[in-house]
Amino acid sequence: MAGVGHLAASIAHEINNPLCFIMNNAELLKSGGKNAAPGSAEHNESVEAILDGARRIKNITHTLLDFARLNTREGEQINVNGVVEKSLYLVYPETKNSCTIEKNISNAPQMVQGNESELMQVVINILLNAYQASRQNGVIRISTYLEDNFVVIEVRDNGTGIDEKTRPHIFEPFFTTKKAGQGTGLGLSTSRDIIKKHGGEITVTSKAGEWTAVKVALPRCQKTLNKDEKSF
Ligand SMILES: Nc1ncnc2c1ncn2[C@@H]1O[C@H](COP(=O)(O)OP(=O)(O)O)[C@@H](O)[C@H]1O
Ligand SMILES: [Mg+2]
Repeated sequence: MAGVGHLAASIAHEINNPLCFIMNNAELLKSGGKNAAPGSAEHNESVEAILDGARRIKNITHTLLDFARLNTREGEQINVNGVVEKSLYLVYPETKNSCTIEKNISNAPQMVQGNESELMQVVINILLNAYQASRQNGVIRISTYLEDNFVVIEVRDNGTGIDEKTRPHIFEPFFTTKKAGQGTGLGLSTSRDIIKKHGGEITVTSKAGEWTAVKVALPRCQKTLNKDEKSF
């Protein structure tokens, strides 16, 4: 998947930061570097820092495990807003330095039926494309809303846009305008396969040099959740 190698590196980095934090503080405690007796403010500070770092790592690995859950039952009830939040959480380490991400997520759960990790894969692909197309001070806006009986996820960026010549090809497997090593050309074709399998549709509109909008529409699931069923 295009950009996923990079994404993995960013996530590894994100785990590495709190890990360093934890190790430094543990070393401090071990060597008594802060002259801190157990129970003292300095000692507690180091212990808190270690717990904080561990919690951050736990959050990251938890989200990764959700993503990697291969045995998700087809036909599971999924809140699309949760899919969006988890995907944003995973791409954030990659995008945070150059893009602003605006969220316009509906408050009510937006339920569809399908495979959560596949839908995350689609949202991550679309977000990474938007990020890769973005220029300085890029803005990516992600929205979810209801349209008739469909739950819509829309990602709009103000990046390079897609020109007339390129547009007919973007869903072709292995079509990429990116340099070797940066793109595999499989992101949109895989995403379309996944969305079709879910009975939905993915459409891309764009103005060359100005913006691109990717819209994913999935059939809404009418059933309401029981209180012990999972929602994000
Ligand atoms: N948000 C976007 N802005 C500009 N071009 C895009 C965007 N999303 C997709 N594209 C175009 O569609 C092509 C195919 O995308 P994709 O299938 O994800 O493959 P890859 O990202 O590996 O190139 C990209 O190479 C790019 O030319
Ligand atoms: Mg891509």
